[in-house]
Amino acid sequence: MRINSLRLQLLAWVVLPLAGLATVNLWTSHGNALATADLITDRMLVGSARMIAEQVAMTDGVINATVPPAALEMFDTGDRDRVYYGVETAGGRLLTGYPGLPGTPGRPSMEATYRDQTLRLLTFTHAVVGAGKDSPISVTVGVTLFGHDAMVRHLWFSAFTQQLALVAIAGVFVLLGLRRGLAPLIRLRDAVRSPERSELDPVEIAGAQSEIRPLVDALNAYMERVRAQMAAQRRFIANAAHQLRTPLALLSTQASYALRETAVDARREALVALQASSARLARLAEQLLTLSRAEPGSRRPRADRIDLTQAARQVLETHAPRAVGRNIDLGLDETGAVPVIGDGTMLREMIVNLVDNALRYTPAGGTVTVRLAATDGEAVLTVTDDGPGIPVDERDHVFERFYRLAGATDEGSGLGLAIVREVVENAGGRVTLGDGAAGGLVVEVRLPLAGG
Ligand SMILES: Nc1ncnc2c1ncn2[C@@H]1O[C@H](COP(=O)(O)OP(=O)(O)OP(=O)(O)O)[C@@H](O)[C@H]1O
Ligand SMILES: [Mg+2]
Repeated sequence: MRINSLRLQLLAWVVLPLAGLATVNLWTSHGNALATADLITDRMLVGSARMIAEQVAMTDGVINATVPPAALEMFDTGDRDRVYYGVETAGGRLLTGYPGLPGTPGRPSMEATYRDQTLRLLTFTHAVVGAGKDSPISVTVGVTLFGHDAMVRHLWFSAFTQQLALVAIAGVFVLLGLRRGLAPLIRLRDAVRSPERSELDPVEIAGAQSEIRPLVDALNAYMERVRAQMAAQRRFIANAAHQLRTPLALLSTQASYALRETAVDARREALVALQASSARLARLAEQLLTLSRAEPGSRRPRADRIDLTQAARQVLETHAPRAVGRNIDLGLDETGAVPVIGDGTMLREMIVNLVDNALRYTPAGGTVTVRLAATDGEAVLTVTDDGPGIPVDERDHVFERFYRLAGATDEGSGLGLAIVREVVENAGGRVTLGDGAAGGLVVEVRLPLAGG
């Protein structure tokens, strides 16, 4: 059985071992009680025997024993004990008392059965002046064990109640301590749960212990991260809406222009422009969608084995007409398969964006080369062009969402490189920008090579 409550767990850990200890203690205290009762009984037996012995005297040359009542009454403790005694001469003649009582000469005391009763017995020897060979006499006193046993029970019971009280008090203190100790946790729960908390601001728990403080700190750090993420998300949505608004306004203008135009040629021209605008808008939407898919956690992470060379070849095939149209020499430089682990669709999308950039920003008649290599356990993909390149101090910024170089052509949304970085980082790689040998830009993507 698993206990899920901290209270019960701690209680069990404190009270159960304590109860175990108390049980062991109870056992030893039984021994103690017994020893004490034995000692007291023996003292009383000695006292009684001594009293009887002192009354033995010579009267008219005859040895005479009278038993003083006090010697027997001292055992009258209300437990209905029976007392047996016997006074014998040195020769073994019974002067008074019960015949056949087992004696314990020379020994402290013993327990023996007499007349079907268990007795504790003790023999005391005493010299009698003038008694001749009858001296010393021996006095044996025996008593049944009711008083003795009652004393053991009494001593033991008080030890038992003490132990029980101790365990109970320990339990109460554990519960009290826990209530105090757990109070900050409860306050933390209430603070987090509180309906007034909408802005994910840090919770402050006064009096939190050093064990709970890290939890509060971790929670606050986590909320801070979530808050930053939410802020980024809001910014992104605002940016995206802004980006969509401009081409939509243009679209609407072009549409009204086309409607107003009566000349067939002019109307056609307006419609062609409208078509181009809507294509750009469609691409913007496409890029937004791709970026949102590339974000971690937006879809189930895929770990397919992808041949980057194969993917690059496909991308180049689809982009070949555009290269031809702009008279750009688009080439693939590869020496075989370059396997990586990742999301195939996203990795292809990454290559599409790099090739798209190279084709877009390289002037007509230029050269764009996609190179693939596998070195030192890394897959290296480079896209080289001989266009204007990106200034060094802009190279960090171009990976930001919606960031475009000043003076860039009006096409493009500034999301391409953001997508590239997202995809590459998700696949455990990195992307860097460099200068080409003949000017232009070199984008280098390094990904972990798939083994096997
Ligand atoms: N090969 C390149 N040569 C020169 N400048 C580049 C190159 N690639 C990107 N840039 C610059 O970096 C900016 C950001 O590129 P990115 O691909 O992120 O956005 P975009 O191409 O403007 O828009 P999108 O790709 O989303 O349609 C571009 O606006 C451009 O100024
Ligand atoms: Mg781009």
